[in-house]
Amino acid sequence: MLDVNSKYKLDNLDPKWDNKKIKYDLLHYNWPAKFLEATREKFPNITDLTEIHTQLSVNDLVTLRKHLEAYTRSAEFSAEVDKFVHDVVSVELEDTRYPDEYLVQYTAGLRIVVPDQQAKNRLLNFHTGYWTGYDNGTNTIWTPITDAYDTNTMYVTDWDTSHSLMKRIHDERWPMEKIQSECEKVSWPVDVKVGESYLFNQGHLHGNVNNETGKTRMSFDVRIAHRDIDFGRRRPGSFYRIPNQYNMLQKEKIDKDKNWLVFVSPNDEYINMAPYFMIREYLLNWCETLGIKPNEWSNEYHECQWMPKLFDFVSRKNTGIVFPSIYNFSITPDERYSLFEQAIENHCQLIFCDENLIVNKKEDIEIIKKYYDFYYN
Ligand SMILES: [Fe+2]
Repeated sequence: MLDVNSKYKLDNLDPKWDNKKIKYDLLHYNWPAKFLEATREKFPNITDLTEIHTQLSVNDLVTLRKHLEAYTRSAEFSAEVDKFVHDVVSVELEDTRYPDEYLVQYTAGLRIVVPDQQAKNRLLNFHTGYWTGYDNGTNTIWTPITDAYDTNTMYVTDWDTSHSLMKRIHDERWPMEKIQSECEKVSWPVDVKVGESYLFNQGHLHGNVNNETGKTRMSFDVRIAHRDIDFGRRRPGSFYRIPNQYNMLQKEKIDKDKNWLVFVSPNDEYINMAPYFMIREYLLNWCETLGIKPNEWSNEYHECQWMPKLFDFVSRKNTGIVFPSIYNFSITPDERYSLFEQAIENHCQLIFCDENLIVNKKEDIEIIKKYYDFYYN
C-alpha cells in the first residue's frame, strides 16, 4: 500500500524539478534532426515527424518506436545524452545533489502521440511515478522532438494537488475513468517548444488527453537518479547506467569455446516467486543472439543460500556462466566479489543479461561495485 503522505513531504520536492521549463542550445543538441534521421533509416519517405500518422500504420508506429529506442541505446546517442544531462544538471540547474554521482536511464522513453490516439487504445493515462516504479528522488528531463502544445502535449498538476488527489485516489480506490477525468480538471498542458525541456518530479500527476490537434507529437524522456533514492525494481545497471558507460558487453570479448551454462538462483528477491524456468528460457534465447551455445542449464539448490553449486562451477577451469542479473545472488556483495575474483583467476567468464555486462577482468568488478553501492546504500 502506497504511503501517500510520506511520499509528499515537502523535503521530497526539489524546486529545481518542480514543473520547470528550461532552454537548451539546439545547435549543440539537435534532437529533432537526429530523430528524423533515425526515423528515415526505417521509413525513408518520412520528411515531417508531425505528419507521421498520415504515412504509417499503427503497427509501423510500434516498429518505429522499437527502432528509435534501439537508437537511444547506441553509443552515439548515449554519449550525446550524457553531455546533455550533465549540461542540464550541473550547468543549467547547478544542482549540488548531482555532483558526479548519478545514474542515467539506460533506454530513453520515446513517445509518439498521434491524433485521436484514444480510439486506438494508445492514450497514456494520468499517473505518478509511484505507480510506474519510481521513487520521487527520480527526476525526469522531458524533451519534445516536435513542438508540444494544446492537446498533443503532456498535462501536469502541481505538487499539492497531486498530493491531495493521490490521497483520494488511494483512499477511495478510484477507477481509471475517474482518475483520468478528475486529473483533466486540475491539470494544464505544458507548452514546450523544440529547444526546450520540461523538468518534473515523479510525485507530480501527469498524463495525456486525447490529441485533437491533427498533428503528431514526438518526445523523449530521460530519468536521472541520485544516491538517496529507493530504486525498487528500477535497478542500477539494468534500468540505469553510469554516465559515459555504455556498450559494456562487446561480443568480441566473449570466448565462445568455453563450457557455457545458464545459471539461475531461486533463493533471492530477484527471482522471488517468478518461475525461474521461464527466465532460463529467456536467457537461452539471449545466448543465441550472442552466439553462445550453452552445454547445460542449471539452478542453485533451493534453500542453499551459500550457493554451493555456483561456487563449484566457478572452481572449474574454462567455464562460462550466463546469469539473469548481478542481483540474482543469495550471498552478500562481499562474497560475490570474492566469487568474481575466483572466476577471473580460473579463466571463467561471467555474463549478466539484465545489465549487459561481462566479468572478464578486475576492472569489470569495479563497475558492479559502483552499481551495488548505489543500490545497497
Ligand atoms: Fe510518466
